[in-house]
Amino acid sequence: MQKALRETNLTDIGTPKRGKVRDVYDLGDKLLIVASDRLSAFDVVLPTGIPDKGKVLTKLSVFWFRQMGGIVKNHILEVDVDKYPDALKKYSDNLRDRSMLAKKAQVIPVECVVRGYLSGSGWNDYKKTGTICGMKLPGDLVESAKLERPIFTPTTKAEEGHDMNISFEKLVGIVGENLAEKLRDLSINVYEKGCEIAERKGIIIADTKFEFGMVDDEMIIVDEILTPDSSRFWSKKLYKAGGAQDSYDKQIVRDYLNTLDWDKTYPGPELPEAIAEKARARYIEILEILTGQGL
Ligand SMILES: Nc1ncnc2c1ncn2[C@@H]1O[C@H](COP(=O)(O)OP(=O)(O)OP(=O)(O)O)[C@@H](O)[C@H]1O
Ligand SMILES: [Mg+2]
Repeated sequence: MQKALRETNLTDIGTPKRGKVRDVYDLGDKLLIVASDRLSAFDVVLPTGIPDKGKVLTKLSVFWFRQMGGIVKNHILEVDVDKYPDALKKYSDNLRDRSMLAKKAQVIPVECVVRGYLSGSGWNDYKKTGTICGMKLPGDLVESAKLERPIFTPTTKAEEGHDMNISFEKLVGIVGENLAEKLRDLSINVYEKGCEIAERKGIIIADTKFEFGMVDDEMIIVDEILTPDSSRFWSKKLYKAGGAQDSYDKQIVRDYLNTLDWDKTYPGPELPEAIAEKARARYIEILEILTGQGL
């Protein structure tokens, strides 16, 4: 099996800020963002990586960013490693297809979640309260039901642990009314456009989350978009409301982890090679379905 790249160490470039998945190097006037093969499940980064996962995430994000150009600008400056600054040349092999030079944005500290279907934490909240983020929904919805129209359900961006759902009013309190409305409208527009494209390829995007940032006075979309890490992708053919759906990506890993006696806290267990290999195949499959290209 290929080797997973769990961590980059571009020692001449500096020490990156390591997120759960991405290593972010500050190049002064811009960022070098490298998507590693790290996988987090239940919010814990596992010790086993999924080979090529970072390439899948990067290729998918680039594919989507380009198609959303008419709705919102994004942070990409360059994705072709051959055009990177000379200082990065010696790292080209590690960076190719899994990195981008990006505009440095002032990230808006909320996760902009959009849901078209009732699943995950949205379903849990609805079951308990009949609402999500303070929004009342019809009383007779089943798990994975399609919502009448997509809803915007922002969360805080927790440094550690789980993000918390917040109401639109709370969002207004954090970023102001103007920005809050813009975040909501852009998020829903990008989600709807993504759904339209994915639908033609037999994929349902049940929900997704975006991050936005400010560059000068302009709001742009940053980080990653419409990847299996940020979205729930379901097969249209297999979709059946009234229960949980298998999603394209970590399902194999989650199912495996659920067979273990692990309390879902750090540190997570190693994955058997067969599970990592199956997960890898799923990531590549969704890339191929959505973009029509492989690795
Ligand atoms: N253009 C940008 N300018 C500034 N920061 C960015 C930009 N794009 C992404 N980031 C930040 O880089 C980091 C990327 O790391 P990663 O995607 O692994 O995130 P994380 O915060 O650990 O997890 P999650 O995906 O749940 O937010 C995030 O903190 C993200 O906000
Ligand atoms: Mg992220």
